[in-house]
Amino acid sequence: MDRLNLVDPDLYLDGVPRNYFRWLRDNEPVAWHDEPDGPGYWVLTRFDDVVAANRDWDLYSNSLKGSSIEEARSEEELIARRRMFVNQDPPQHTRYRKLVSAAFTPGQIRRMAPLIEQTCTRLVDDLLDGEVHDFVPVAEELSFQMVATLFGVPESDWPGLIEITRVMADFQDPEVNPGLAPRPEMQRDIADYALGLISDVRSNPESHHGVVANLAQAEIVDEEGTHRLSDAEIVGFFPAVLVGGLSTTAHSMTEMINSWVQSPTIFDAWRGQECPSVFVEEFLRWRGPVMTFRRTATRDHEFRGQQIAAGDKVLLSYASANHDERHFPNPEEFDPSRDVLDHVAFGGGGPHFCIGAQLARMDLKLVFGELLRRIGTVEAAGEPRRLRANQFAGWLHYPVRATPR
Ligand code: HEM
Repeated sequence: MDRLNLVDPDLYLDGVPRNYFRWLRDNEPVAWHDEPDGPGYWVLTRFDDVVAANRDWDLYSNSLKGSSIEEARSEEELIARRRMFVNQDPPQHTRYRKLVSAAFTPGQIRRMAPLIEQTCTRLVDDLLDGEVHDFVPVAEELSFQMVATLFGVPESDWPGLIEITRVMADFQDPEVNPGLAPRPEMQRDIADYALGLISDVRSNPESHHGVVANLAQAEIVDEEGTHRLSDAEIVGFFPAVLVGGLSTTAHSMTEMINSWVQSPTIFDAWRGQECPSVFVEEFLRWRGPVMTFRRTATRDHEFRGQQIAAGDKVLLSYASANHDERHFPNPEEFDPSRDVLDHVAFGGGGPHFCIGAQLARMDLKLVFGELLRRIGTVEAAGEPRRLRANQFAGWLHYPVRATPR
């Protein structure tokens, strides 16, 4: 089969190329792809291989070249990327991640449930007013609220920060980022915002709570001894957590609406009741929003008969692994009663496993539950438009008209 250019964001305007991934899984599970404007890359498409590579951080590094598909254009850009813990390897990654994971305890997450429920009720009330609504901003507000609350971002700053985060997350889409300007320029806005908030937190510590307030107090113990985090180090936490939190969960909500519009009876068995956790898990396996993350090989080695060289780019295809028929019988079917629900939508269990997984699960359970309980019919009311992006599968616009149950 002819190679598809898997790093071309245009490819995904029609959705995930599922047939191509199936062919790769069956015929070339570790497949080299030339890249028009880059060094080329291996793609891992089988479930077991993605899990194995995810866990072997010593062989498949996030730090060497970062975790984005695009190459850094300079050494400075690479250094800036490595300030985000998603672009670090253990033991540095372990130290920095621990500072943030303290905010994601089950207790903290549970405390956010009433806030999410309140917003969700309000937004679904609006949705059911008989008018046409674009569902994407609805989903973004629901997703952003929980991340911003966790971070300790004052509510008055939310609209501006959603705008900045959207440009960073959706930088490959010309409608969001006209002229497709390079990422470092966009990161300046978020850095400026973060520096302002950090300065306020440092001058008025008693009036701030959440991740940023914790980071301002945190100490790191490393080879050089014990030190407080610098402002630049704290800024490094913003992009990954805001982008990770905003777009992924929002895309999952819009994709749920899309699935409902496409197959109006698909969720009938779950209507009018609480949304069970297995529904959310199976939905993320079936239509998870994160298609891929990048690694870089640290040593020459052989994998399924292929010679991977030190420095080679390796893409872990979660979108393909979650549809691997070796692991999930009838993978194209949405079936929350299936025995195996150990999907890789949040990663394959390595050190970078999604830090927001529990939060996202709770958020989606509440939002899906509210939609299933209250919506009678939902139909597209205009042309939905997929996001132009090569790492996240999502939507830019989804105009809908919904009626109550
Ligand atoms: C449905 C929602 C979500 C999905 C499907 C998702 C998926 C993922 C995946 C696949 C990874 C990479 C795993 C790996 O490389 O091994 C990841 C990492 C990450 N996610 Fe999520 N995510 C979601 C929601 C969130 C939320 C709500 C937040 C923040 C509040 C978040 C923050 C992060 C961060 C910071 C990382 C990097 C972790 C690290 O490098 O240690 N994600 N996520």
